[in-house]
Amino acid sequence: MTGIQIVQTANAVPERTVPNDELNAYMETSDEWISSRTGIKQRHVATGQTTSDLCTLVAQKLLAEAGWQACDLDFIIVATMSPDYMTPATAAIVQGRIGAKNAFAFDLNAACSGFIYGLKVAEGLLQVADKRGMLIGGEVLSKLLDWHERSTAVLFGDGAAGVLLEQNLTGSSAFLATDLQTFGELGDRLTAGYQPVNSVFATDSTDPHQRYFEMDGRAVYKFATHQVPESIMRAVQKAGLLVQDIDYFILHQANQRIIDQIAKRLDQPSHKFLSNVANFGNTSAASIPILLDEAIQRGTIQRGQTIALSGFGGGLTVGTQIIKY
Ligand code: ACO
Repeated sequence: MTGIQIVQTANAVPERTVPNDELNAYMETSDEWISSRTGIKQRHVATGQTTSDLCTLVAQKLLAEAGWQACDLDFIIVATMSPDYMTPATAAIVQGRIGAKNAFAFDLNAACSGFIYGLKVAEGLLQVADKRGMLIGGEVLSKLLDWHERSTAVLFGDGAAGVLLEQNLTGSSAFLATDLQTFGELGDRLTAGYQPVNSVFATDSTDPHQRYFEMDGRAVYKFATHQVPESIMRAVQKAGLLVQDIDYFILHQANQRIIDQIAKRLDQPSHKFLSNVANFGNTSAASIPILLDEAIQRGTIQRGQTIALSGFGGGLTVGTQIIKY
């Protein structure tokens, strides 16, 4: 079987940071409430950059740091729930801007699990015919938030990050095992970006407010703290490992309490659960690759280590990828 290598990681986030205290100007909230309930201290918010702008920056950094040419790429996938347009796909915009003339490009939406679902798709492509691919998770969630709705607006941030992946003909692979699950029957627990039927023939009278994030926070909390540990355990087993063999866990960064609870359920020490939710908030499909890139750049994650990447979110979806970096 063909192996796959993670060649490079990179991230790009908007410059503007919004600390918790600044949100008081738009809604009744406090740093104390946000920090104690979520661990979030600040988030990066786009003041003009779009999802494709952030993803293009990531793509340029990835290529520059790896020393690859854009024409080396066979495919570009962007995982996003906040694309610039329904069409063209964000990935197609990136492909055009960087001049990746040999690459096909498309978007994938599995909300906060998008990067993990994207890894599975990329793995499939690389095992068949393609040699070099780029996967980016990118979001501008700030455009999907009602900035006067404190129960959701305080939780999210904007950003993008990604990886370059390459076929490894020697056989050894970074991809050890995957577990993906979708719970469509729970989809209404977390919605955003509703597109109303609004033609001249429409009789639909849906509240336009559904354009913005709506979430049953407690239901999502319960879902994540139960389903993520189970997904990790299934993936660990498929990889023929024990949970204690995992050097680090990189979970979707939604809430520090969720991360702590998952660590407890897995009975693993908290230092193995990397976190940057304090600085970025929840960046959906971008959160896992941003943290992965940070941890690699800092030297926390090193070649040869075994990492569990695990996401959860809209759909509802959950997914785990075990990698040997
Ligand atoms: N500031 C101050 N008070 C607030 C705020 C705020 N920002 N938001 C809510 N409150 C109030 C509520 O109005 C409520 O007041 P009341 O008791 O007078 O009615 C009180 O705080 C408690 O609210 P709860 O919703 O019960 O708070 P809870 O402790 O459940 O925490 C939270 C809420 C942080 C959202 C939690 O449920 C959670 O983290 N859930 C998971 C959410 C998540 O991870 N979502 C992302 C999924 S990923 C994706 O796909 C996008």
